[in-house]
Amino acid sequence: MKKERKLTNPLRYSIANFARPYGDDLLGRTEAYYNWQQSRHRAGLFPYSHALDRAPAPRTRITHADGRTFDGVNFASQDYLSLTSHPAIHEAVRETLREFGPHSAGAAVLNGNTRLSLELERAIGEMLQTEHVLLFPTGWGAGYGAIVGLVREDDHIVMDELAHACLQSGARAATKNIIHFKHLDNDAVAATLADIRSRDITNGIMVITEGLFSMDSDSPDLPRLQEICRQYKATLLVDVAHDLGAVGEGGTGHIGRQGMIGKIDLVMGSFSKTFASNGGFLATHSPAVRQFVKCYGGPHTFSNALSPLQAGVVLTAIRIVRSPEGGRLRADLLAAVNSLRDEFLAHGITCMGSPSPIVPVPVGSEAAARIAAALLFEEKVFANLVEFPAVRVGTARIRVQVMSSHTEEHVSEAVPVIVRCIQRAKDLVVEQDSGLSLPWLNQLAATAQGQHLAG
Ligand SMILES: Cc1ncc(COP(=O)(O)O)c(C=O)c1O
Repeated sequence: MKKERKLTNPLRYSIANFARPYGDDLLGRTEAYYNWQQSRHRAGLFPYSHALDRAPAPRTRITHADGRTFDGVNFASQDYLSLTSHPAIHEAVRETLREFGPHSAGAAVLNGNTRLSLELERAIGEMLQTEHVLLFPTGWGAGYGAIVGLVREDDHIVMDELAHACLQSGARAATKNIIHFKHLDNDAVAATLADIRSRDITNGIMVITEGLFSMDSDSPDLPRLQEICRQYKATLLVDVAHDLGAVGEGGTGHIGRQGMIGKIDLVMGSFSKTFASNGGFLATHSPAVRQFVKCYGGPHTFSNALSPLQAGVVLTAIRIVRSPEGGRLRADLLAAVNSLRDEFLAHGITCMGSPSPIVPVPVGSEAAARIAAALLFEEKVFANLVEFPAVRVGTARIRVQVMSSHTEEHVSEAVPVIVRCIQRAKDLVVEQDSGLSLPWLNQLAATAQGQHLAG
């Protein structure tokens, strides 16, 4: 980024423009980003970092980062089976608190394990039929730790271009030999592995993908991908953060759906989408891999362990997920997802991907998506704005996230509002003088200081 350029138009730019700040003053050079972020904030176009004032239920109360409080219908939380409000989960919290207190009393290797965390490792191993499981304090740490634990600088990483930030960060920390393949393209993986193996038969290759992509709601062909990996002596890592528990028979996600339970080299996941907790895990068939990643995988050893409260919650959540009740909750979730996608279609919008708790509603330009997100707050419908770096520049979207406790009423309340806000936002970008009298628009005009909205 050039020092002299002033990038403050809140409808333009992305964090990509500020990622490589210029100059020798490490602290001072953060200001270009800050000025842009603040101009978005003042214009009401920075819909991040707000705070829930209630549980993440289908109706909730949110305090916006600008201090305004809204009661509205909530499609912005990740609680796919609505387990955060399940009585058994609340009871697990009370019971665990009585027994262990609210601690994280050490890293897992130094007194941070509890009876519950060991039980949780076994429960995950049993669910995935991949018996050696390692817990991490976050899903992010699990993805990062699995990669830096196993991959060294001469090894290769071949990863889906849309793989999550924790996987990208882990890859960058582990090696410079990273090749991104076109999203879900197994033929591209095969060609890349053939090419790598034609010049290097001495180093390892890790192929990285997700069970359910969190921004596009689609999935790779896992049996074929695992077969390709075997053919070229590469190791497959699948991140199941979004699908485990929420889809598939017994909550086994796309691995289960595609008949691959127990057949994937490495599976990592997070407890933060379906299991009502922080935390993550890596599952492997190899006791050696488990011990190795424990030692070299960073966050398992050098960050304090998942607290017993979290372990108790996740254990209870797994029991529910695998029970007939879990099946009913997934059926409710899918019914809400289908009804939402149908309702969007009836309004002329085709949602991206296939039915899952993630329903990406395409917008396109960041300008329109930012305005739409601001309008949604005003209209008391909560759904997340997704823009770069979570998705490519120019493919911004509103990500609707569904819970099993969403009903037809929530769907029919939210969808027309989302459709209307996107349309108004697009119109507004084109017709800068539309005269819309929302408070933030006046601020926007002042902040943008005569810069053009579009382009
Ligand atoms: C695909 C994917 N992997 C990993 C993570 C990290 O999990 P957590 O947020 O629980 O640390 C996330 C969540 O943001 C994710 O979407």
